Amino acid sequence: MTTANQSLKPITTKINENGHLEIGGCDVVSLAEKYGTPLYVFDEETIRTIACQYKKAFNNYPKVSMLYASKAFMTKAIVRILDEEGFGFDMVSGGEIYTAYKAGGNMKKSLFNGNNKSYDELQMAVEFGVGLVSVDNFLELALLNDVAKSNNKVVDILLRVTPGIECHTHEYIQTGHLDSKFGFDLTQVDEAVELIIDEYKNLNLIGLHAHIGSQIFETSIYYDEVNVLLKEMGRLKEKYGLNLTHINLGGGLGIKYTDKDCPPSIDEIAEKIISSIKENAPKYNVESPEIHIEPGRSIIGTSGVTLYTVGSSKQVPKGKKYVAVDGGMADNPRPSLYQAVYTAEVANRPEDEKTETVTIAGRFCESGDILIKDVKMPVLEEGDILCFYDTGAYGYSMSSNYNRVLKPAAVLVNNSQSDIIIDREDYEHLVSLDRIPARLEK
Ligand code: LLP
Repeated sequence: MTTANQSLKPITTKINENGHLEIGGCDVVSLAEKYGTPLYVFDEETIRTIACQYKKAFNNYPKVSMLYASKAFMTKAIVRILDEEGFGFDMVSGGEIYTAYKAGGNMKKSLFNGNNKSYDELQMAVEFGVGLVSVDNFLELALLNDVAKSNNKVVDILLRVTPGIECHTHEYIQTGHLDSKFGFDLTQVDEAVELIIDEYKNLNLIGLHAHIGSQIFETSIYYDEVNVLLKEMGRLKEKYGLNLTHINLGGGLGIKYTDKDCPPSIDEIAEKIISSIKENAPKYNVESPEIHIEPGRSIIGTSGVTLYTVGSSKQVPKGKKYVAVDGGMADNPRPSLYQAVYTAEVANRPEDEKTETVTIAGRFCESGDILIKDVKMPVLEEGDILCFYDTGAYGYSMSSNYNRVLKPAAVLVNNSQSDIIIDREDYEHLVSLDRIPARLEK
């Protein structure tokens, strides 16, 4: 069965009777008129469908926890939807913990992750009842034990390890290779375990955590990752008599950004994970563990699109034609950061023939602010609405106010209804944190 991460567009996308793109039953051009552009649009049906596909894919395995990797895109409304779908939250900052908490996310089911958590953030996690902390390094073991002790609690933890598995994705989004800033090297695990057993009495080690990378297309990596973690569990059982019960496999499943991308289905990943447990757990003399999966991009990426309005164009004599839109690297830094490639269509006339090769440029003051290079499009005119697909993950969440440009709004569409889930910033909001020292006042 194909799953929604293999679709280029939100699953409700179609062309309506006006000849316009329609998503979630809403005319995309009307959304642009109503809310302005740039605009992030999220299709609730795609999010819920993929969440269900994750649950179904792991249906045959009795002990699975789904955690949504909030870093991909988090707002209170997204927390509500994924909480309803039974997901916990993988959170990496006080801000993410606070958002999940405020929106009524299930804290007990959730996990705090990250390579440099502060004392205050650990305190917040313990206070808000976050169920599990994935401890990344020696300093954090000491800090968390202190925090737990001062709260009279014993905190369940995982140890984040670097399993030494490389994947073929952009080097900035690989994390599981040996020379990584994240987690304990496997050669450091014994020292950490001995500290937990001997000194850190307020920490309860229940398992291991790894994350290989993001936008992964190779399914065998998940088989290997499970194998490395089970082997380590077996080794720790033999050496220390430790019965670890959990492995967290991180996220990473890729999505389809262009017609050339062929990501695997969720079922294929689940099959690799489950078969690796079946084959390898007995080999290392360990019980089948409870597994945690932390998908981010594959949950939210396909559901989100960004709408822009076309503005100025420039034909370089004997060179490229640039067409500029009203957003760019501040609302989607991925093309300039990772050379990410996107697919776009003209929302107000998606069926027009693509006769011109153009480069779609952002509005920010950087030559590198190019959204798509050399793409075939109908002849674009000022006022056309461009719909960029697959911007749901790591778009808003990595957006900035570069050039003091306002962050766009985000709307959620479903059953022909659209609702704001993040307001568009206004100029007053932009200056609201600025302070002028008295000596500079006029
Ligand atoms: N778990 C851990 C520990 C992670 O570090 C990440 C992502 C995830 C889960 C979720 O991975 P996903 O399912 O989304 O691939 N900004 C980059 C992606 C950075 C991913 C960081 N970690 C991008 O735009 O491609």
